[in-house]
Amino acid sequence: MVEALLGLTGKAALVAGGGTGIGRGCALLLARAGCRVAVVDRDGTLAEETAVRIRAAGGEATAIVADLRGAAAVEAAVAEATARLGPLAAVVNSVGGQAGHRAAPLAEVDETAYRDILALNLDAAFFLTQQAGRLLAAAGGGSLVHVVSVAGLRARPGAAVYGLAKAAVINLVIQAAAEFGPAGVRVNAVAPGMTRTERMAEALPEAAFAAAAAANPLGRVAEVDDVAGVVLFLASRLAAHVTGQVVAVDGGDSIQTARPAPLGGPQEQATPKRSQ
Ligand SMILES: NC(=O)c1ccc[n+]([C@@H]2O[C@H](COP(=O)([O-])OP(=O)(O)OC[C@H]3O[C@@H](n4cnc5c(N)ncnc54)[C@H](O)[C@@H]3O)[C@@H](O)[C@H]2O)c1
Repeated sequence: MVEALLGLTGKAALVAGGGTGIGRGCALLLARAGCRVAVVDRDGTLAEETAVRIRAAGGEATAIVADLRGAAAVEAAVAEATARLGPLAAVVNSVGGQAGHRAAPLAEVDETAYRDILALNLDAAFFLTQQAGRLLAAAGGGSLVHVVSVAGLRARPGAAVYGLAKAAVINLVIQAAAEFGPAGVRVNAVAPGMTRTERMAEALPEAAFAAAAAANPLGRVAEVDDVAGVVLFLASRLAAHVTGQVVAVDGGDSIQTARPAPLGGPQEQATPKRSQ
């Protein structure tokens, strides 16, 4: 019933970065919606784990190993997925992150970190958009969804390069939506706030999640399925007239002009300036 509404039953989907985290959540949910899924990841063990989980639940999945930071690798991975599953109807790009670099103030970012973070977040997204756009267009249409970040929508001290890479992907989304739209290809983005993935849960103390949760209106950080659910919606027929959009999945954090100060804090005590 719900599967019929989504219109994804039997369709082929590719999830880039589907080995773990948000990408794995997207792969699992697309499979539950009836997709046959190509899980593409630079870590073959993780990609196969996701595929095994899909098959164990009765779905169809195949694992493909590729480092997606270059055009040739993206082209080969997309071609391999198409050869194994047939023409793709949905492509999700969840590759991204800090590329192993620590958050650093803008003034202190070194060139290696700058290039690595751009390559991971922007190069992969660009070449995947080109390849997927061409193939989806040739197949008569489809949906491409990029996982970006609220860091691409506003300033986040310490994440200047990551933020600019995600902002660039957001522009890529609107550009691609305009260029591929006439061929029936929709291109959208989901911008998560802090999301409790396996990697984040290992890297951060619970206090960091609690602080992020306290700062947003819904009072909790995102779970992987919160993000995957919106990706599924955008990939599905339910979003048939939606393209070039960025949907924040951040508990409302990004709608706030400032983090609310505690009651009795400086904001309440400040003397309002006289209007000019
Ligand atoms: N987790 C969060 O809090 C959060 C918040 C906002 C945005 N995001 C974005 O969501 C996306 C997924 O984040 P995540 O936390 O699930 O990441 P993750 O690190 O948990 O998983 C990323 C996956 O991508 C794979 N990968 C990494 N580099 C690759 C490459 N060059 N080629 C192919 N595969 C590669 C990894 O092996 C891994 O399986 C990223 O774009 C990230 O920037 C995450």
